[in-house]
Amino acid sequence: MEQSPVTEVDLDAPNPGRRSTDRETVAQSVEPDVGAPIDPSASVFVAGHRGLVGSAIVRRLKAGGFTRILTATRQELDLRDQSAVMSWFDEQRPTYVYLVAGTVGGIMANATRQAEFLYDNMMIHASVIEAARRFEVEKLLYLGSACVYPRLSPQPMPESALLTGPLEPTNEGYSLAKIAGMRLCEFYREQYGCNFITAMPTNLYGQNDNFDLASSHVLPALMRKFHEAKQRNESTVTIWGTGSARREFLHVDDLADCCVFLMDRYEGERHINVGTGIDHSIGELAEMIRSIVHPNAELVFDRSKPDGMPRRVLDVTALTRLGWRATTELADGLTKTYDWYRSAYAERGATGAIAEDLAGTIEAVTTRGTT
Ligand SMILES: NC(=O)c1ccc[n+]([C@@H]2O[C@H](COP(=O)([O-])OP(=O)(O)OC[C@H]3O[C@@H](n4cnc5c(N)ncnc54)[C@H](OP(=O)(O)O)[C@@H]3O)[C@@H](O)[C@H]2O)c1
Repeated sequence: MEQSPVTEVDLDAPNPGRRSTDRETVAQSVEPDVGAPIDPSASVFVAGHRGLVGSAIVRRLKAGGFTRILTATRQELDLRDQSAVMSWFDEQRPTYVYLVAGTVGGIMANATRQAEFLYDNMMIHASVIEAARRFEVEKLLYLGSACVYPRLSPQPMPESALLTGPLEPTNEGYSLAKIAGMRLCEFYREQYGCNFITAMPTNLYGQNDNFDLASSHVLPALMRKFHEAKQRNESTVTIWGTGSARREFLHVDDLADCCVFLMDRYEGERHINVGTGIDHSIGELAEMIRSIVHPNAELVFDRSKPDGMPRRVLDVTALTRLGWRATTELADGLTKTYDWYRSAYAERGATGAIAEDLAGTIEAVTTRGTT
């Protein structure tokens, strides 16, 4: 992958949802050392290191030679608790922060736990971002989500689509919190000169995903359903919705690589989309998973269940111009993910609760220390 230094990216059309004039000036004035990769001996806090994204970032950092990766489990540090977060930052003094912790879930979890999604995420983002300012973190990467774009955004969705229309109601609580987190990064840059950036990933999947049917996203939920149907010798698998909704899927190892790339090279004020730019219908996705997991199964669509947004795919033009693109084909990523699921999850007689057990197996993550 080409790693040319980058000083700016053309994010095309003006965004009607933001005040742009003063911030463009400020953004330019705070650009430090663009293009200089981070020293792998620097201390890096991965907030949310046991999750899908955080564990992939830890793997990627370790592969890149990083030796001081700071982590803390939710039990050791509740990131919603501002005073605890301040004490932790005071003690640990990270130089770089990947803010990838949060309350995350699929369509049903989002729709039925809106208060929790809004409260938890707002508190986590506010606490960590403020602590990063107070303790002079060199750079922070915040993870937004493609969910935050308006329900009827132009497709593919450019960065400029943000706040141009009503949100998808089934995940409004989550979206509001994510937008607040992004804006916080922008305002901290504007008001305090903090070097905080936002990456906006599409749907993710891969090792350490959540396979609990009550709270998982569509891809791991489908994989588990097909796997269990095969185990029980069932010949049909029921899929929520009509199967026509279109989504984009990015392997989490690609995302982690992109986060490290952006931490090294992106200094822009505006959030930047991270995806493949390629979408598939849920029906097509189900077919691919069926062929990998349980080829003899028949698909049944439960049309009484919601589809969510009709189409969601990111415009990744800006990221491509920066010099990064995803490399994992969906079929390969699904096979890799199913291999992991079978070995690490299903073979243990998994229930949703086993995610806790799995978290303890993530390679070399530590508590309140460095790896
Ligand atoms: N998954 C996706 O498809 C997707 C797509 C776009 C954006 N994102 C964004 O990516 C980020 C990570 O998502 P993910 O899929 O990796 O989620 P995940 O697998 O559920 O992991 C969430 C992580 O956050 C930690 N966490 C949650 N609440 C916490 C709290 N109160 N205090 C401390 N730690 C807490 C969890 O810690 P414990 O393990 O200790 O519980 C876990 O490590 C989120 O910001 C999400 O919005 C995800």
